[in-house]
Amino acid sequence: MLKNLKTKIFLDSGDPKETKEIINLLGFLDGQTTNPTLVGKNPGVQGQKLNKEELLGFYKKIVKEISQLIPSGSVSIEVYADKNTTAEEMLDQAREMFSWIPNAHIKFPTTKEGLLAAEQAVKEGMRINMTLCFSQEQAAAVYVATKGAKKGQVFVSPFVGRLDDQGKNGMQLIENILEMFKKSDGHVEVLTASVRNLDHFFQAIKTRSDIITTPFKVLKEWGERKLPIPTDDFTYKSSLSEIPCKEINLNQPWQNFDIQHELTDKGIQKFSDDWNLLII
Ligand code: E4P
Repeated sequence: MLKNLKTKIFLDSGDPKETKEIINLLGFLDGQTTNPTLVGKNPGVQGQKLNKEELLGFYKKIVKEISQLIPSGSVSIEVYADKNTTAEEMLDQAREMFSWIPNAHIKFPTTKEGLLAAEQAVKEGMRINMTLCFSQEQAAAVYVATKGAKKGQVFVSPFVGRLDDQGKNGMQLIENILEMFKKSDGHVEVLTASVRNLDHFFQAIKTRSDIITTPFKVLKEWGERKLPIPTDDFTYKSSLSEIPCKEINLNQPWQNFDIQHELTDKGIQKFSDDWNLLII
């Protein structure tokens, strides 16, 4: 981590070659996130068909390589989930994946089943990353479902770029969740995800997102520009529609929150489709 930077910098990629290149360029890397779509873009499997065990074996192999490159960082590994996957099925995968490397965070979708899995996973001592988060209510549910977890054990990943694509100012969701968590015990770290450009990157740093995961292309651009940090006069410009901050009471069961989101459902569909495309 850079001394004057409060935000941890992760690479968003399924390719250890990119990890190496980024470490050489930046001189550091705090972690990496993977997902089924990114794994499918790895040249080792792209355009190929494997059986389920071979594909999982491939995922394990690349995750191990990444882990060895950033032994003191965090590496997120995502469970397979489609709309019918149960919490128990996610947990079975999570227990296996968590044993792959010593620095894993297991990604579950921010759905009812994903939250049930998360609740149990933290009790079993797993580190987790709740993905496909598109609303403040979903982040609140993650917080409540994982109460009692240690600092560093739980990440929540709000997806900025996919909200922008729908005409909503995704960076505002990051600000709103950070604001809401000011009144929390701080056990959930906000991981800005679905980053598309350096403006997202700078704004995440300015708003003090705990972590940001960034595609190779954007981190490369940052490195080539000699790692500038946004100063106080940096203003994030967006003409997209506002996402207002809500007053949410975190002292209630997570089942009370409206966690349904169309983009979460679409995201699950896309991740599972991309994974299934690789299977014979
Ligand atoms: C990382 O954890 C996310 O899966 C990733 O940032 C999603 O990015 P995308 O919206 O560009 O696919």
